[in-house]
Amino acid sequence: MTNITLRRHLTDKGHDPDLIFLLEDIASACRSTAYEVRNGPLKGNLGLTDSTNVQGEDQKPLDIIANDIFVETCANSPRLAALVSEEIEEVVWLKEPEEGDYLLFFDPLDGSSNLDTNLSVGTIFSIMRVTKDGDRNVLKKGSDQIVAGYALYGPATMLVLAHGHGVQSFTLHQGSGIFRLTHPSLTIKQDTPEFAINASRQRFWDAPIQQYVDECLQGKEGPRGKDFNMRWVASMVAEVHRILMRGGVFLYPLDDANRAKGGRLRLLYEVAPMAMVIEAAGGAGSTGTERILDLLPSEPHQRVATILGSKSEVDYIVDLHTK
Ligand code: AHG
Ligand code: MN
Ligand code: MN
Ligand code: MN
Repeated sequence: MTNITLRRHLTDKGHDPDLIFLLEDIASACRSTAYEVRNGPLKGNLGLTDSTNVQGEDQKPLDIIANDIFVETCANSPRLAALVSEEIEEVVWLKEPEEGDYLLFFDPLDGSSNLDTNLSVGTIFSIMRVTKDGDRNVLKKGSDQIVAGYALYGPATMLVLAHGHGVQSFTLHQGSGIFRLTHPSLTIKQDTPEFAINASRQRFWDAPIQQYVDECLQGKEGPRGKDFNMRWVASMVAEVHRILMRGGVFLYPLDDANRAKGGRLRLLYEVAPMAMVIEAAGGAGSTGTERILDLLPSEPHQRVATILGSKSEVDYIVDLHTK
């Protein structure tokens, strides 16, 4: 562990003070969310609410609590022009957008099906910039993100950031509430013998994904010539964090059951931020045919096929799509 705090780190990197305020507000919102998640069973905040979000998913009490925490905490940032959240149908405009203002995209609680079983969940976020006065367009490419990251509410609460200086992880010190730099430079192994996919959907997969998983399952005796291991937490934050720590590949492909929606995971506040983190750590992110960070969204809640992780493995899967 280092003695470097999140504030010290952001200041040392020479960020604009308004961006530092916003990132500190995001860190505060993550700290408050971690607290609510940990006390969820004691406060009666498990189970479902009566409401659904714009995606038609049942909302859990903590989906709504975490969303409200983010909106209330980050709306304090003087240069934040707008918010886009998984749990809010419309873009929330906080001020008249001016050049240099910020746009915040977030999934307040990711993997929320894990809450009732007391497993890891997280928050995903990214920041983009308003490029000219009065511009209300939030449908920008992932390559326009200036910061992306996530908080993981696991055994420890960690904040992971990609902000143009590699990828760093900060661990929340319980008690003082300070995020301290614990992982100054995270990089992803190029090769991996580990994949993550919801295998119960196998009958819906397209041919390249069928072939990829089939080759993994053949192990040493198959064309890959090595044994693979498989993991599925059903929490993208936890999967991506595992990949950052020890390599691997995560797939939520386009399949027959989600084709009409364009995929399962949402581009602006789930997949693009994670793709930025993964690329900044030396990995790759693709739909199978296109680089995630090059995609131009057509609407705020657009979904997309997702393949993220160790570069050689993602490249191998992309190659299967071109054959
Ligand atoms: P969210 O909880 O924000 O709606 O997102 C859940 C996502 C993602 O975290 C995870 O990878 C995936 O849904 C799990 O899907 P399955 O239910 O198919 O396992
Ligand atoms: Mn959801
Ligand atoms: Mn999510
Ligand atoms: Mn969510």
